[in-house]
Amino acid sequence: MRIGPLDVFPPVLLAPMAAVTDLPFRTLCEEHGVGLTITEFLSAHALVHGAQKTLDKMTPSLDGRRFGVQIFGREEDAMCRAAEMAVSIGASLVDINMGCPAKRVIAGACGSALMKEPELAQRLVRAVRTAVPDGVPVTVKHRAGWDDQHLNAPEFALALVEAGAAMITVHGRTRAQGFTGAASRAIIRRVRETLPRHIPVVGNGDVLTVEDDTRMREETGCDAVMIGRGAMGNPWLFRSIAARLAGHPDPGPPTVTDRLAILRRHLELMKVHSPPKRVIHEIRKACAWYTKGLPGCAQFRERTQHITEIEPILALADDFFTLRLVARAA
Ligand SMILES: Cc1cc2nc3c(=O)[nH]c(=O)nc-3n(C[C@H](O)[C@H](O)[C@H](O)COP(=O)(O)O)c2cc1C
Repeated sequence: MRIGPLDVFPPVLLAPMAAVTDLPFRTLCEEHGVGLTITEFLSAHALVHGAQKTLDKMTPSLDGRRFGVQIFGREEDAMCRAAEMAVSIGASLVDINMGCPAKRVIAGACGSALMKEPELAQRLVRAVRTAVPDGVPVTVKHRAGWDDQHLNAPEFALALVEAGAAMITVHGRTRAQGFTGAASRAIIRRVRETLPRHIPVVGNGDVLTVEDDTRMREETGCDAVMIGRGAMGNPWLFRSIAARLAGHPDPGPPTVTDRLAILRRHLELMKVHSPPKRVIHEIRKACAWYTKGLPGCAQFRERTQHITEIEPILALADDFFTLRLVARAA
């Protein structure tokens, strides 16, 4: 897939997810074959006013890998300055959030509320496009529409492309749906049919397996797939999709050894890159993710809740996996 001057392979993206797609998790997904990661949405207003917590979330990918920064807001000035900040830390693309359904975001008339103001949405894209260098694509992620009576994704996307958007991601749910019900692949197909061929359309929503990924591509004609919840605790999904797209056999689900290795890698990354105050919480979350479905995982998860230091949790995790490995070998 080509986004303006950027080649992205494999054409599978990690969805921006607040409090999930931090640098450690993005790194794991990159190491497992995802084509591109994007930070969680960051308030343009908070960035330009120097809010440290928000600034800390605007992190470049490791080892010089390409990444996108997602921003949200409705003030042209702040959006332009935030986009410039993203470029100054090396972002390869700037994505504008026009899909968030959260009440606090809608209250500020940002996120998916912008789907009700296509002219303002166009002005924002045009302004940000002008603010960043030509080589940095400006992209937008939005929903199917506000509700079932306002499924305006195709004409909304076209308006954004006319304003300079180089890629459109469509989450096939309406704002009214939030995260419930099914994501519509039909609306993503309509967006693909509406936009000029050289503008990539990314299909998003409910892709949890390699088969879902194939179905999304076949039924919508999308140029790439973006995966959110299906990747949580399962970065191996990218390994499988990347293999299938390259015409190689699917390496299949992770072994117990794979799970232990990834937990160790995730912990190593968190120790270095997660804010100290959140490290324990994040480590407990990772322990729950990678032990899910294994015998005794509920008790293990429960025990991690009572440990407040990093090293004892690591020792407990090592014991948990060693026991399972021995049991499998016996
Ligand atoms: C915990 C969580 C946080 C999210 N945060 C963002 C965000 O920061 N920006 C965004 O565009 N979408 C956000 N989303 C929406 C996802 O990017 C994605 O569009 C949605 O989850 C549907 O895809 P999926 O079915 O693959 O999860 C979030 C979703 C979840 C579950």
